[in-house]
Amino acid sequence: MTQIKTVIIDNGTGSTKAGFGGEDTPRHVFPTIVGYPKEGNKFIGDQLSKSKTKLKLVFPIKRRGITEWQELEDLWDYTFKQKLEVEPENARLFLTEPPLETNENREKKCQVLFETFGINSLALNIQPVLSLYSFSKQNGVVLEIGKSYSSTCCVFQGTVIPQTINRLHLGGKDITKYLIKLLNGEKNEEKQLTLEKDWDLIRSIKEKMCFVSKNPSTEEKRSSLNQLTKTFESNNSTFTLSKNRYLATEILFKPQLINLNNEPNITSLITKSVGQCDERIQNEIYHSIVITGGSSRFKGLKERVEKELKTLLGNRSFNVIFPVDTLISAWVGASMLSVAQNFQESWFTKEQYNEIGVKEVHKRFYHQF
Ligand SMILES: Nc1ncnc2c1ncn2[C@@H]1O[C@H](COP(=O)(O)OP(=O)(O)OP(=O)(O)O)[C@@H](O)[C@H]1O
Ligand SMILES: [Mg+2]
Repeated sequence: MTQIKTVIIDNGTGSTKAGFGGEDTPRHVFPTIVGYPKEGNKFIGDQLSKSKTKLKLVFPIKRRGITEWQELEDLWDYTFKQKLEVEPENARLFLTEPPLETNENREKKCQVLFETFGINSLALNIQPVLSLYSFSKQNGVVLEIGKSYSSTCCVFQGTVIPQTINRLHLGGKDITKYLIKLLNGEKNEEKQLTLEKDWDLIRSIKEKMCFVSKNPSTEEKRSSLNQLTKTFESNNSTFTLSKNRYLATEILFKPQLINLNNEPNITSLITKSVGQCDERIQNEIYHSIVITGGSSRFKGLKERVEKELKTLLGNRSFNVIFPVDTLISAWVGASMLSVAQNFQESWFTKEQYNEIGVKEVHKRFYHQF
């Protein structure tokens, strides 16, 4: 008999993390992108080379959810067959979902996976719950800052409390965009960095050089400009980072800098979510504030959030925790849960799908009856 493999896929709007249940880290992390050349075969995920500018790029998952099903299927097919070398029929798949996934999308994913891919069984859970689970915790509030958005939600007894899910359309790509704007400053138009041409360069500079200041108004005094200054070349022009290294991430704390005028910042998003759950459990929830997602990797972010929370919460005690690697924490939680003894009965099998139908996924994984 063929051995059934446990496959874990976490599809973010920016990157896909894929590997095997029970392992500590994903085997592969690659962009959630399909690229079409003028002629010939499309490029999927990490097949995209540096010549990306010559391709028409399709991002199958966007801020507001899945928009391109064909390309999502291409990515799944690539993940199973080329990256993990598993035939889908021989796989049980644990798939992560964003907070606020629609029932319609969830059903469609399930149908495609069972009917087109023929997977053996399926499990679903939302990314923040899984990040919390990666700490073996069942109660807490999770702030996730990914590529396209930030979200918070409270989890109690391992289940998300739906009315506490809040989303802010602000993520890593907005920080990259804002950094480009700051760097262009007063430069002539022909020397300016552009979103299309310089995106990957500035994203990588952001990831390596930017940080969050604990106190931006006095940062200049603390770390001398000399220490902060880094230069690089593009478009035959020299760009200087200096203060932009911490000013770019300020949009997380002041969304109005990018015209999100009536939106709470990431710290207020946490207190907003906790305020939306039953008062009797709020103290317990504040005990585990998990911050996760690739864009929380910035140095100094934890200290700044803690400082702002102190101001907002006064004497109330709280505890902020960070996964070892925030980019993969949802994947890690899913990997752990997929092999937990008491989870094994939860798998939704192909036979059950054929017998009871697709609506079962909402009941089984989200207690929606
Ligand atoms: N070292 C780093 N410092 C700062 N930001 C980083 C770092 N590494 C990755 N990022 C940013 O993290 C983001 C990707 O994070 P993540 O993989 O959690 O997002 P995603 O799951 O693809 O997107 P989403 O959750 O929004 O759908 C990108 O914007 C990337 O630039
Ligand atoms: Mg994500």
